[in-house]
Amino acid sequence: MVTPPEQPKDLYVRRMFARIAGRYDVMNRLMTGGQDVFWRKIVVRYAHLKNGESLLDLGTGTGDIAQEVLRQVPGVKTVGGDFTLEMMYVGRMQPTKQQILWLGCDAQKLPFSACSFDAVVSGFLLRNVTSVDIALREQYRVLKPGGRVVALDTTPPPGGLVGKIIRLYLRFVIPLLGSLISGQKDAYQYLPNSTTSFLSANDLAEAFVRAGFTDVNFEKKMLGTVAIHWASKPVSM
Ligand SMILES: C[S@@+](CC[C@H](N)C(=O)[O-])C[C@H]1O[C@@H](n2cnc3c(N)ncnc32)[C@H](O)[C@@H]1O
Repeated sequence: MVTPPEQPKDLYVRRMFARIAGRYDVMNRLMTGGQDVFWRKIVVRYAHLKNGESLLDLGTGTGDIAQEVLRQVPGVKTVGGDFTLEMMYVGRMQPTKQQILWLGCDAQKLPFSACSFDAVVSGFLLRNVTSVDIALREQYRVLKPGGRVVALDTTPPPGGLVGKIIRLYLRFVIPLLGSLISGQKDAYQYLPNSTTSFLSANDLAEAFVRAGFTDVNFEKKMLGTVAIHWASKPVSM
């Protein structure tokens, strides 16, 4: 991973997203062929939100998932939390994102009391945190009993020829696109590296169980390179 050893991961991640904030959305569309928009719609659908409920979109970045929440269920109290303020500034300037309650926060130490939210969702957050276990325990803590969690993230490519082609795409095409579009080649080396070194979808599902969640499920998208996990906090503990 392109993480200098003297720099803690969270500091490296925050500085990296601060540098690419202005071009983050356009790079996402390019890297995924626009599929990321479709995955965020699924994430919100799996959160089963109702009017009047509260939702935390953690690692909200420029707020695309939070915006989709408000598009699907306009009456949801939607908090977008992230520790890279530069990403949220980009989102906050967009007219369609004015209803989001933006909040600077660390996913590993959430500034909310227990049982605050009906749902917690995240997109491409978990592979960036220092400890997935701590981040999931925090999400569990702030959820109300019966609350839902949904996480969208990349997952290591499958084996075989398809996996080889995907690894070549991650290793060569994405850094090239990143340097052409954002001028930040190293950031777009970190992103593919963090994908190949992240937990498999099965291992991530086990991390949800360790955190206390039940009814843990996942499905893969994009030739097995992206996974959506969803689970619940038990009603009685
Ligand atoms: C790849 S971006 C995803 C943004 C958005 N969720 C999306 O779907 O496009 C990951 C975001 O997670 C944030 N992030 C990473 N680690 C974090 C942490 N420990 N606490 C809060 N935010 C974090 C980054 O700052 C970045 O904005």
